[in-house]
Amino acid sequence: MRKTNYLVTALSILCTSSLTASAAVKVEDIFKANCASCHGEQLQGGMAGSLLDTTWLKDGSDKSLSEAIKFGVKEKGMPAFGASLSEETIRTLVVYIREAGYRADVQAIKTPTINKRFSTKYHSVNTQEVTSTSGIIWAMDFLPDGSLLYTLREGQLWLLDKNGQSTQIKNTPEVWHRGQGGMLDVMPDPDYAQNGWVYLSYSKKTGQNKAGQDIGITAIVRGKIKNNQWVEQQTLFEAPKQTHRNRGWHFGSRFAISGEYLFFSNGDEGHQDDAQDLATQNGKVHRIYKNGQIPKDNPFFNHSKALKTIWTYGNRNPQGLVKHPITHQIWSTEHGPRGGDELNLITKGLNYGWPKITYGMNYDGTPITPHTSLPGMQQPVHQWTPSIAVAGMNFYTHKLFQQWQGDLFVGSLAKKQLHRLRIKNDKVVEDEIILKGLGRIRDVVVAPNGKLYITMNDRQANESKIIALSPSK
Ligand code: HEC
Repeated sequence: MRKTNYLVTALSILCTSSLTASAAVKVEDIFKANCASCHGEQLQGGMAGSLLDTTWLKDGSDKSLSEAIKFGVKEKGMPAFGASLSEETIRTLVVYIREAGYRADVQAIKTPTINKRFSTKYHSVNTQEVTSTSGIIWAMDFLPDGSLLYTLREGQLWLLDKNGQSTQIKNTPEVWHRGQGGMLDVMPDPDYAQNGWVYLSYSKKTGQNKAGQDIGITAIVRGKIKNNQWVEQQTLFEAPKQTHRNRGWHFGSRFAISGEYLFFSNGDEGHQDDAQDLATQNGKVHRIYKNGQIPKDNPFFNHSKALKTIWTYGNRNPQGLVKHPITHQIWSTEHGPRGGDELNLITKGLNYGWPKITYGMNYDGTPITPHTSLPGMQQPVHQWTPSIAVAGMNFYTHKLFQQWQGDLFVGSLAKKQLHRLRIKNDKVVEDEIILKGLGRIRDVVVAPNGKLYITMNDRQANESKIIALSPSK
């Protein structure tokens, strides 16, 4: 007891010296200076308990952890840091504790191998390699005849026929393959059999800024494929000239089509405050007609300074967008910064809060904001802290996997995971990692025969694969 008290005093001195814990101080250093002496450098415990296990004093929620840090746990000897650490710094510590817990947790999950069976909560699953290629497969989607279109971020569109033969489609638009940019989403029109339209999003170089650096935008086009050529292209969306300043970051971009409407996402392009500015395309989900015209009932259509295409704002970098096959709701996945990846239900006119609210912190461990919620800003349906780098997704409604009806399958880049989410009344009631460690999973689609197709890539080998998952009897 006495020992603890001594430590608390010693610590409060230490804390005072790090009291200047301003926005520039990194969470790693704050933890080392204030917490490691009791909880251990690796959060494994020592004088005090481990922060890695899932045994918590209370319910283990973000709130209970931040309250423990802020007010202390006097009877156990945990000092209060509310006077020395700001709300936003305490928020970064909670993210830091989550990251460490996650690392400890996933060591337990085994890595399956391709062409082998693995088991999940509801199904045993066979994996089968469909194709592999050099480069990054960014998106894919099936045509009604069962052939598969896929993009290579390097700037190409390919068609994989039912016999496994891949053909490059020529004369697709020239892309700006830079940073996170390149050839992005591909989606055939739901009425493809009648009209032949295919929608493409890509990064386009549009000029140079005053410093002489290349800049670009996310461009949205549609075209048709005839004799393996991209033809009859129409430009559907390009942001106004004065907003062109992307240097290679957060282009988005995914499509969802509902009826006559085409939804697409545009990331914040590395300018986070733009997400709250209705005069720019950045950090938004947009809605246009499939032919590029703008619906008059868009929420900011009559707002004099706003881009008329905006449907929602405060979205950091959504790289998953999908229409629910039954409810027709639009769902998105959004990359958070360090922590705070989100699943959002995309609803007309709402503000999703970036960067005013987020469950994450900056990549260097400094805070962005103390707020995880504020009035007038929409909460995510689900969030992942630490970040899994959440990417493409799709709902499963085919009867092939009986027990997965209505579940949402979500790919993850950084954590190389495939998540299965069960959603009830717009809440996630199960989040199962069904596959881990094979590669960065960027897109998930359901084949006409009900198999679940995923794309994954290996950065080091600069190689991508398409893998089909089917139930193992
Ligand atoms: C003087 C030792 C000491 C220091 C310094 C200290 N803690 Fe603790 N902490 C404890 C003790 C003791 C507990 C009670 C539970 C236990 O033993 O794990 C605790 C509990 C907690 C809890 C609640 C855990 C739960 O089970 O709900 C959190 C979160 C926490 N500490 C975080 C921190 C952070 C972050 C710092 C640095 C800013 C810090 N602690 C500094 C001793 C300390």
